Amino acid sequence: QEIICFKETDSTNSQARALADGGAGEGSLVLAESQTLGRGRKGRTWFSPKGEGLFISMILRPLMSPMDSSRLTLLAAVALAEAIMDSTGLEIKIKWPNDLLCNGRKVAGILTELSTDMDAVNHVIIGLGLNVNTPRKSFPMDLRKKASSLLVESEQPHSRCKITQLFLERFENHYNTLVDHGFPKLLSRWKTMSDSIGQKVRVEMIDKTLTGTIQDVDSNGFLILEDKNGVRHSILSGDVIP
Ligand code: BTN
Repeated sequence: QEIICFKETDSTNSQARALADGGAGEGSLVLAESQTLGRGRKGRTWFSPKGEGLFISMILRPLMSPMDSSRLTLLAAVALAEAIMDSTGLEIKIKWPNDLLCNGRKVAGILTELSTDMDAVNHVIIGLGLNVNTPRKSFPMDLRKKASSLLVESEQPHSRCKITQLFLERFENHYNTLVDHGFPKLLSRWKTMSDSIGQKVRVEMIDKTLTGTIQDVDSNGFLILEDKNGVRHSILSGDVIP
């Protein structure tokens, strides 16, 4: 198990992948004060200014099928939401699949990357980015409407160290529960923290866009959307737009 902290790096997910390819064990961590090429989902960039956020990537080597590993993203979202709520008192909602919102604006995102070998999981990298002490004026204009930080929402700074510590504790607990008792408990916890269910939305996917009402998140972490004709769609990955 290794823990590496960078003042600056390209992307903690990229560094963690290199570390995992070199054989680093489960629970190894890469942290950075800032990233020059922070990556978001779908090829987007992740705004990663110095000293104001948390940029953490974790290496896991779970004995599960690639299909089941999307559960780990939901797990990380629950653990991070709990860590933020416990250390700041702010109310956090999870937006499927892995955005953390505070007062309707995004404060954190999670990027899970899988490496598979003959249909088995070789390693999983869970990367999280959380805007902690980012002042509103630091955000690029195009992000100001949608994104926020814990500082902006609570009007006070917060300890990145404390949030990290709580997150790791929560993550480890939930991970052990997942391994020992399966997914149902975690999924119901995720549902109580999510504001997705019942919402009328548009879901943009790589090849198409669907509109409808979110019915549920199923036992694989897929979004269940019912369109106006009553047809149910099960969606693995997409952008949900209210
Ligand atoms: C998203 O698009 O919402 C996911 C953003 C994930 C960003 C984090 S920051 C730490 C880790 N390293 C990266 O390059 N990305 C993730």
